[in-house]
Amino acid sequence: MEKVNIKNTDLYVPRICVGGCPFGGYGWGIVNYDDVIETIYSAMDLGANFFDTADVYGLGESERIIGDCLKGRRDKAVIATKFGVVFDYQTKRRYNNSEIYIRRAIEGSLRRLQTDYIDLYQVHYRDGETPLDEVVNTLKALQQEGKIRYFGMSNIHQEQALELKPFKDVFVSFQNEFSLACRKNEEDMHVFSSEYNMTPLTWGSLGQGILTGKYDKNVKFTKDDRRSRKEYVNFHGRKLSKNLKIVDELKKISDEINKPISAIAIRFILDYLKDSIVLVGVKNKKQLEDNVKALDWNLTQEQLDLLNKKSI
Ligand SMILES: NC(=O)c1ccc[n+]([C@@H]2O[C@H](COP(=O)([O-])OP(=O)(O)OC[C@H]3O[C@@H](n4cnc5c(N)ncnc54)[C@H](OP(=O)(O)O)[C@@H]3O)[C@@H](O)[C@H]2O)c1
Repeated sequence: MEKVNIKNTDLYVPRICVGGCPFGGYGWGIVNYDDVIETIYSAMDLGANFFDTADVYGLGESERIIGDCLKGRRDKAVIATKFGVVFDYQTKRRYNNSEIYIRRAIEGSLRRLQTDYIDLYQVHYRDGETPLDEVVNTLKALQQEGKIRYFGMSNIHQEQALELKPFKDVFVSFQNEFSLACRKNEEDMHVFSSEYNMTPLTWGSLGQGILTGKYDKNVKFTKDDRRSRKEYVNFHGRKLSKNLKIVDELKKISDEINKPISAIAIRFILDYLKDSIVLVGVKNKKQLEDNVKALDWNLTQEQLDLLNKKSI
């Protein structure tokens, strides 16, 4: 399986990381737990052994189910999780990066994941208060205690470049939204991956599902699915129309080379962003198997240019 080294680490991981957000069962419409369990087992069998989750996904449920499924083969898997979004679905979203909060968060994650270490522990969002050197000191202490192996960032933008500069070799990775449907973070990602030497992980890599070709202009989600909300722009208004045009191009390539549409959308990222890792949320084994077909081949330069042109 096509792998990459996360810079400044001894981690060699598949270039597709199994995204655990839907595993939490919250905000993604219908999620069937038997399917999730089968998906995690299948991922391990296929060698797709890199999992991304967050303490807050399903208020701990995503970590819990990953922990259950990896029992007995924890050492064969690489687990990335995140902290910093306060557990609360009732009030406005809040963030906390304080030492006391991180210390509580790591214990919760370790317990739910049934492990004594996290491979990659990521700051989900900065809280706008705790100085970054304090966060780094806490993370380094956790590293020395053996509770985390490496740490990374998430949702970072150029405004944070100055703050991050002294810690260039400390944070090994970052994750931002990037896909054929979302190019707004491209410049930021370039700065952090090339100048700051951090490995880029992309989230929303299938535009939350629109780039799989299974939705059309009449797409409607139930109220309990976050994509029903206007802020999930990929499924609404002009952005939806534009995305469907990108899907038309993906379909043409898919017919030509006999690969799933989702695999082509993922391959675009793998070929376009050097040494990137693509996070993909999956709800069942079939989705996982289709997505893994993105590995171990390349788009032609012509296909890459065409998709690039369509999406910007
Ligand atoms: N750092 C952050 O702040 C952050 C934010 C968001 C996500 N993430 C991470 O990134 C991961 C990926 O992002 P995401 O889950 O938001 O979006 P995504 O990967 O773009 O889309 C995932 C959704 O697409 C659909 N799908 C996936 N593969 C498919 C296939 N082969 N065929 C048909 N449908 C398919 C599934 O939903 P349906 O079947 O319902 O369409 C799935 O839940 C997350 O799981 C999480 O680990 C991180």
